[in-house]
Amino acid sequence: MTRVHKPISLTRYLIEEQREKGVIKPDLRLLIEVVARACKTIATQINKGDLGGVLGNVGSINVQGEVQKKLDVLSNEILLEANEWGGHLAAIASEEMDDPYPIPHRYPKGEYLLVFDPLDGSSNIDVNVSVGTIFSVLKAPEGVTEPKPEDFLQPGTKQVAAGYTVYGPSTVLVLTVGDGTHMFTLDREQGSFVLTEMNVRIPEDTAEFAINMSNMRHWEVPVKRYIDELLAGKTGPRGKDFNMRWVASMVADVHRILTRGGVFMYPVDAKCRDKGGRLRLMYEANPMAFIVEQAGGGATDGHIRILERQPLALHERVPVFLGSKNEVALVTSYHRD
Ligand code: AHG
Ligand code: MN
Ligand code: MN
Repeated sequence: MTRVHKPISLTRYLIEEQREKGVIKPDLRLLIEVVARACKTIATQINKGDLGGVLGNVGSINVQGEVQKKLDVLSNEILLEANEWGGHLAAIASEEMDDPYPIPHRYPKGEYLLVFDPLDGSSNIDVNVSVGTIFSVLKAPEGVTEPKPEDFLQPGTKQVAAGYTVYGPSTVLVLTVGDGTHMFTLDREQGSFVLTEMNVRIPEDTAEFAINMSNMRHWEVPVKRYIDELLAGKTGPRGKDFNMRWVASMVADVHRILTRGGVFMYPVDAKCRDKGGRLRLMYEANPMAFIVEQAGGGATDGHIRILERQPLALHERVPVFLGSKNEVALVTSYHRD
């Protein structure tokens, strides 16, 4: 008799992490389930596209000085509404809000801090290209019930969970609770995320890179040197040809790297030097670095592990180099030379 292996749902995966492995607590399981449910709602909205009237701008500017898209605002609201009442959170912070969002007094409070980029890759919404949601979970400092912005400023090594959902041809939730990186594909008929890739491993070597080449003239010397060597191909110092991809949704670019290797870079350049970089530490770089390291990859800011950086502000920006370990190590070493 052949035993039929039932698909493992996200719920079952989390219950086993909690009950059998003791890796997570019940409240963290609840938190991840709530975020996953919110992502399903966001996926539904994104899918409607123009029919749902969700494309285009709202006309406001966020704390980043960026024009907010309707879906930026909507996704933020969906995540807030889903998470505020469950009793698992002490506070929430988001790319789309200047300050942390306190849990309303009418609801119980929990021990976790949730930080998210509700919609990553906003420039791709109107052109029907993949976007995503990124989230990071920290613990509120002991005894703190009304967290202030500084209570969020913990290095990425303190994350207890991180994940992203990529809204592509299929909707995939990628998660780590510090016990490997796993992928769950949304089964729209069942309405649940199903485990489809367990213990993802990023190949240590690669022949593919992702960077916005239009910024080349603004790059610093180490990045220029590294990319020049990749572009030189077979007859250059690297002795092989490299291919390039750039979606301009970090979620989609990182998802490709988790799936088949590669190195993703958003270095600091002359255009963004005063801000420290392009991508945000707390809700882009840190969660992605955790996910990538748990899949055997590397993630640095060109000098140190992203996860070891002490955040100085909630919306702080950082240079990012992540993906296949040996390439991340090489480009990082060029910054030392
Ligand atoms: P967001 O849409 O949340 O502001 O993030 C966009 C980020 C990231 O997803 C992507 O890698 C990068 O911006 C793209 O930047 P360029 O437009 O400079 O390529
Ligand atoms: Mn983003
Ligand atoms: Mn965003």
